Amino acid sequence: MKVPLLDLKTQYKQLRELTKTLLDDILDSQYFIGGKYVARFEEEIASYCNVKAAVGVSSGTDALLSSLMAMDIAASPFKRGEPDEVIVPDYTFFATAGCVWRTGAKPVFVDINRDTYNIDPDQIEAKITPRTKAIMPVHLYGQCAEMDKICAIAKKYNLSVIEDGAQAIGAKRDGVKVGNFGDCACLSFFPSKNLGGLGDGGMVITNNEALAEKIRQMRNHGMEPKYYHKFVGGNFRLDAIQAAGLLVKLPHLDTWGQMRRSNASIYNEAFESVEEIKTPYIQPQNYSIFNQYIVAVDHRDDVIAYLRSKDIGCEIYYPVPLHMQECFAQLGYKEGDFPNAEYAAKHTIALPIYPELTLDQLNYVIETLKEAVVKFR
Ligand SMILES: Cc1ncc(COP(=O)(O)O)c(C=O)c1O
Repeated sequence: MKVPLLDLKTQYKQLRELTKTLLDDILDSQYFIGGKYVARFEEEIASYCNVKAAVGVSSGTDALLSSLMAMDIAASPFKRGEPDEVIVPDYTFFATAGCVWRTGAKPVFVDINRDTYNIDPDQIEAKITPRTKAIMPVHLYGQCAEMDKICAIAKKYNLSVIEDGAQAIGAKRDGVKVGNFGDCACLSFFPSKNLGGLGDGGMVITNNEALAEKIRQMRNHGMEPKYYHKFVGGNFRLDAIQAAGLLVKLPHLDTWGQMRRSNASIYNEAFESVEEIKTPYIQPQNYSIFNQYIVAVDHRDDVIAYLRSKDIGCEIYYPVPLHMQECFAQLGYKEGDFPNAEYAAKHTIALPIYPELTLDQLNYVIETLKEAVVKFR
């Protein structure tokens, strides 16, 4: 049996007709940038996420970058002295920290909680300096970071909060959806996300209308009106084709999320009695959308090689914590600085969790992983 990590072709089969109808409409109109599909998609996402405004942008990365730029974080070449600082978790996809660096600000890393893999809020305050401007928590794998504690710290020190919700559209904490905790949240529609586009796409969602308006201008070179530039932005616009493809998928998102959660429960139950497999810990306040299902095991690389030899798609998200990335060497961190992130980098595996998995496929993954952990004990 073959079990890929993700199977977008099966998902596409049920969406083919409608997707093609909308794409034809766009091709006939030859109107590719912005337009009615982008406007409608923004409205529908704002309503889905219960926020006042949603601004479509070219990727999750550009959502993060434009949010930082809109908050004037290290934005001006005339800023003097030490760079602004932004607190980010040490364990996340690179874009979280890469965007901070690209503004000229300094990413300041904080270790994660070993159980949730999210930023450990109890380690944030020690990293705050007079130059700290913002905290960028990541809702990793589809589970909310501890936003109550993080927002309380941000309030105490007057810091902005940018939620990196790239992996967590629709995830909830205490019943509140991602995007309603910080000043804004950044979503990604990269094809492997729960809501994945026909290419790259992203969105900034916020309850702050003024911030939304600034990001609308930011995504178009800070231009308003045409050819008049109040500030420097970029080309961060969302294509009509992406908005149309995503509009077709959005009505299915909650059903797909429930299917992912049901797959996660099947894995959890099957691995409960297997000492060698650490299943994901979801805090009781959280409703995870399970963009990834992550287990931790010893002898991880042997286990992964075994799974792959049996045609099971799996991945390491992520093999190198940010403080050990070559490009951040000048920040002066060393191995041992963030033990929980280093643990996650060495022990975790993402298993297939996509909605269309069959029970046979799930059982095959379960049995093969059990075999592997016994073999490499
Ligand atoms: C946590 C996190 N942040 C940011 C991004 C960047 O999103 P994109 O790939 O759409 O630029 C991703 C997506 O891979 C992500 O997982």
